[in-house]
Parts: sequence; structure tokens; C-alpha cells
Amino acid sequence: MVSQTIPVEVISEKSGGSAEVTLVPIHVMGRRYMVPSDLTIMKAMEYAGYQFTRGCGCRGGICGACGTVYRLPDSHRVEVALACQEIVKPDMFLSQLPFFPQNKAVYCIEELDVDEGTLAALYPEIFKCIGCGTCTRSCPQDIEVMDYMAAAIRGDIARVAELSFDCVMCGLCIARCPAEEAQPLVAILARRIYGSHIAPRAQHLQERVQQIDDGRFEDDLNELMKKDLVELKELYVGREKEPDMPDPNWRPTDSSYL
Ligand code: SF4
Ligand code: SF4
Ligand code: FES
Repeated sequence: MVSQTIPVEVISEKSGGSAEVTLVPIHVMGRRYMVPSDLTIMKAMEYAGYQFTRGCGCRGGICGACGTVYRLPDSHRVEVALACQEIVKPDMFLSQLPFFPQNKAVYCIEELDVDEGTLAALYPEIFKCIGCGTCTRSCPQDIEVMDYMAAAIRGDIARVAELSFDCVMCGLCIARCPAEEAQPLVAILARRIYGSHIAPRAQHLQERVQQIDDGRFEDDLNELMKKDLVELKELYVGREKEPDMPDPNWRPTDSSYL
């Protein structure tokens, strides 16, 4: 195959002030736009006139709503990105995948009988995985997706939960999977099972929840509910803060809530 390198057009121009802005071409769903070179894909699309009502959430790389695919002119690869995180590249051809369909199994997490067959019982299609690794190569979070799918097939729930911890549910692995898996749904089920059935209980958390159930903070909360916005802001700004660097010996001056 002969690869072709398309000359990249780069323009520098003065913005409204004195700063110089470098514009580069990008192609959104086949249409060409000149956008500032230092913008994320999401901001560049907004610069070009797109308005996000779907396919955009946190803008901080957390919610996974902005999965994007693109190609560069001198590469055969389909690249993936989160639009709110990736800076535009000259002459990228891109399209957003605002949502990828996936069928979620119905379960009540507290009532699940947990054993090594639980993931397979709810998502039997995991056995269709052919171990191609495309999901791992498609993940903008650099997660070993194929490995957690292999752990799911083995019934190793803790391993699935551990390997998939950084999953943002963007669905890009689903879009590329030849076995039509729904990897993030398997992964989030494993993390839920791990959190509710497997992870050791934190003693201090149980004690705090019990205090809340016993109504220990009820009076203080009721007092807070009576305050207006200005008073609440003053309380928040003036609150005693933990030190920036962890200090195991630190205690608040007022320890009555401990
Ligand atoms: S892309 Fe699909 S078939 Fe390939 S390893 Fe991942 S889950 Fe398995
Ligand atoms: S595992 Fe799949 S859904 Fe999760 S972040 Fe990676 S590509 Fe996105
Ligand atoms: S908008 Fe939430 S990850 Fe991009």
C-alpha cells in the first residue's frame, strides 16, 4: 500500500488582542474547519460552531461521554480519544461516538449469589471473546481490556475490578470489538460485586454510618438547613481544612464530630 502525505496548512493570525493564534485544519464528519492548534477536540468543535447537548459531560476525562475516533492522513490506524482531553492534530478526520448501544443485564447487586460463574451468568457473551486485543488498543484510558475480559471468563471478579478501575464507560472498546462484547458493563458489574460482596468492610466507615443512623448529626444538620446561602458560604470558606500534605497526627480543633 502506498501511503500519501497531505501537506498540512497552518496559518498564524492575530487574535482580537495582540496574541498570535495558530490555526490548523481539522475535519469533523467530513467537513473542514480551521481551529486554534492548542484546543482540545471538544473546544475546537465548539470553536467551529458545534453545540454539545449530548456527547459531553464532565469535560475533565471522567464521565466518558465524549468518545471520539479519528484518522490522520499519513496513517492507516483508526485512533481513539476522549474529545475533552485530546489536543487537535493538523488534518485529523474525526467523528464523535456520543453513545454506543449496550444491553445491560438486570440484577439486584445485594441479592446476587456471588461465585466464579456470576459474571458469565449475566453476560454469557463473554465466552465469544476471541482474544484479539483490539479492545486494549482502543482504550483511551490505557486499560488492559482484553486481560480483564479474560479474567471475567475465568470468573476472577477481583481481578476484573482491579484491572478495569480506570474505565470511564466511553464505549470505544465496544465499537471496535469483533465479538460484539459490552466490556464496560461486565467491568462495572465486577466492581459493584467487589465493592458490595468481596472488599473487606472498613470498620471506621461502619461506625460512622451507625452514628448517622442513630441520629447523632441530626441537630447540626437541621441548624445548617436553616441558614441562608451567604451564611453557608461563610461557613464553607472559613472551615478548618486538613493539611495539604497528609499528617497522621492531625486532628481538627473541634473534635466533637469525630
Ligand atoms: S476486542 Fe472483543 S474479542 Fe477482541 S479481545 Fe477485546 S473483548 Fe475479546
Ligand atoms: S475499557 Fe472500554 S469503555 Fe472503559 S475506558 Fe476503556 S475503551 Fe472506554
Ligand atoms: S466530557 Fe467527560 S470524559 Fe470527556
